[in-house]
Order: sequence, then C-alpha cells, then structure tokens
Amino acid sequence: MGQVKLIVSNWKMNLNLLNSKNLIDDILKIRHSESFKHIICPQHLLIPSISGLLRDSKIIIGAQDCHYEKNGAFTGDTGVDLLKDYDCEYVILGHSERRNYHKEDNKLIKKKVDLVISANLKPIICVGETITERKSNKYLEILGNQLDLCIPNKSEEIIIAYEPVWSIGTGLVPSYEEINEIYDFTDKFLKNKKMTRKLNFLYGGSINSENFKEIVNKTKVNGALIGGASLKTTEMKKILTFC
Ligand code: PGA
Repeated sequence: MGQVKLIVSNWKMNLNLLNSKNLIDDILKIRHSESFKHIICPQHLLIPSISGLLRDSKIIIGAQDCHYEKNGAFTGDTGVDLLKDYDCEYVILGHSERRNYHKEDNKLIKKKVDLVISANLKPIICVGETITERKSNKYLEILGNQLDLCIPNKSEEIIIAYEPVWSIGTGLVPSYEEINEIYDFTDKFLKNKKMTRKLNFLYGGSINSENFKEIVNKTKVNGALIGGASLKTTEMKKILTFC
C-alpha cells in the first residue's frame, strides 16, 4: 500500500465558467484530510476565476500545459509567468493527449519540464504506453525512454504520472501487479541514474471512487491523476474522504 500524497484533478477541456464555479463550491464543502494535496487543473481560461475561489482554501491550482519558452511570438500559447501570477504551483506535462493531438515528443516535453522547474513550479510528468506497445511487450522500453528523456536533471522531487494510453477514458484499468511493475521499474530507473530525489508516483486512467480504493490499498502509488471522475462531486467526495 502506497501513501497518498497527491490527488490531481485534470478537468481537461470541460466545464464552463458557471459549471466550474458550482463544482468548486461543492468541492470546498468536502472535509478532507490534510495528509495529501489536492491539485485542480482547469482549462487555462478558467484559471483566474478558479484561482480566486481557491485562495483561502488548502486546494492548490495547477495547469494542464504551458509553452517551453517564457514568452515570445507563440500565438495561442500560455507562458509560465502568467500561470504563476494566478498562483499555479503545478503543471501537467507530457499528457498523452498532448503527445497525440499536438505531436509533442519527449524532447519538447523535457524543454517544458526544465522551464517549469526554473520558474519554481512543479512538473507532473506523464508517461504511458499505447495498447500496441503493451501487446508487443515493448512497454518497458517505451517507458524507459520517456523517463530518460523527460526527467529533469535538477529538482527536489520527481512526480511521475503513469497513465497507460489504453486506460484513459476507456474504463480499462491495469492490474495491481501491472501498476506495481511500473512503480518498481521507475524506482529502479531513478536509482540506476543515481537520482535519489523523492519520487511521487501517481496512477491515472479511468479512476473512479470504487477502483481508487483498491488501487491505493493494493499498489505502491502515491496518488492519482483523475480525469472524468474529477468532474463529479459525488465521485470526488468519496475519493477525497477515503485518503
Ligand atoms: P480519465 O483521464 O480519468 O478520464 O481516464 C485521466 C487523464 O487523462 O488524466
């Protein structure tokens, strides 16, 4: 059983201004333990209003992505300084939806990771294999490559979110043994690289209030990256009060 340290709500491109405010109102009413951090990552345009609503709470605001340069001629992108202006502390990087739809590769993700760290923000680095990669038994090689190319050289802690692409939004969840295999692989990978920094290993992909309890009880994970279920008050109530 791992110790839950971080619960990350990844709202993705969901919720309008009113819905997001209502959800925050509901989440703020949930009394949950202070033994872990709850980070909410809304769409960029929602960040200013959600940040204001969370100001007097223990809930932390994070972003779903950022650009790899501090500023410049990058139409449509968002820079880290603005994220900091609105109190963001964490940034999700390398999510498979960015890798897939925006063709982000490990090299680009590493640039973002380094910028985020230099801005004193914390990257949540997502790694994960596709179903084809898993079936071809190449998944450890793929994950090793993602870790090798994306992990920062300097940082106090390393936050890795293992999100098998085949599990995101599909209802399919790896077995506990499969999750622990990737935990052990990541831990060993860091030790081989002489990286003795603290590892926070999150699992993400089709988490709900039911499988969350089992995953926490039966694996070594330190938390979760939650997509669909993070939009539902009833689900989040069960998840946040369980830890
Ligand atoms: P899901 O998404 O919980 O809806 O599967 C998780 C994620 O993509 O971070």
